[in-house]
Amino acid sequence: MSQIIYLNGKFLPIDQAFVPVLDRGFIFGDGIYEVIPVYSRHAFRLSEHLRRLQNSLDGIRLANPHSDAEWVDLLGHLIEANPTEDQYIYLHITRGVAKRDHAFPKDAVPTVFMMSNPLVTPPRDLYENGVGAVSAVDNRWDRCDIKAIALLPNILLRQLAIDAGAVETILFRGGILTEGAASNIFAVENGVILAPPKDNHMLPGITYDLILELAAANGIPLEVGQFAEARIRHADELWLTSSTKEVLPITVLDGKPVGSGKPGALFWKMHALYQEYKNRVMRAG
Ligand SMILES: Cc1ncc(COP(=O)(O)O)c(C=O)c1O
Repeated sequence: MSQIIYLNGKFLPIDQAFVPVLDRGFIFGDGIYEVIPVYSRHAFRLSEHLRRLQNSLDGIRLANPHSDAEWVDLLGHLIEANPTEDQYIYLHITRGVAKRDHAFPKDAVPTVFMMSNPLVTPPRDLYENGVGAVSAVDNRWDRCDIKAIALLPNILLRQLAIDAGAVETILFRGGILTEGAASNIFAVENGVILAPPKDNHMLPGITYDLILELAAANGIPLEVGQFAEARIRHADELWLTSSTKEVLPITVLDGKPVGSGKPGALFWKMHALYQEYKNRVMRAG
């Protein structure tokens, strides 16, 4: 079965899908997106993803082209049309095709694109050894809460990690932890999970919310606040979270070991809670 995508009302093979060059996504990066993991053909935390999609659309003043019921229907079709049980859906909406002009076009129709790819969760050795990260100044805009398709700042920041043989770049704005270039970041200090607040300086991760829920449900202390760079560098543990990477331990930061240099006890506990939650929710359908 070839990869089937959705574009503006049609399901078609990816090599037959085209977008006009005047699409404002292409010209301006004028659009937003979502990434939704699918386990055993069930979309994970779908209502949370649809809520964040609405917030992103509100943030760029674009009307939602579909009701939640329509999204559920379209996503269901796309998931069935693609071969693997575990997938991740990339969902992308732009302000549509119009003569190039910064001003919002009066009657452009939003472009809606969705594709599915096989979801491969991180291999075991990443949990056992952890991953490396580097740090950088967060030089992005002030609306990081919008999941905007204009990702050039994130791309440049994440490439710093790739160039250093690491997987993620941890960002500090004015010396305060915000998030990763493509993930949320948590620290652990004396048995307490430290999390930055969900404000305009970070993307409100769906996985981030789940970590907060799992910590609360299992009596693990968690503090939301502004955490200075020095504190993060001396943390016992660092984790990164995202829908496709789930929870991963960061064991090296800027070439130096984080805590013991091995995934910590709280990481293993959260990893187990996350897997248990995922299996329970997916079994429930
Ligand atoms: C900048 C940024 N922060 C956080 C996240 C994590 O969000 P989620 O857990 O919803 O995948 C992502 C996901 O790709 C991201 O790009």
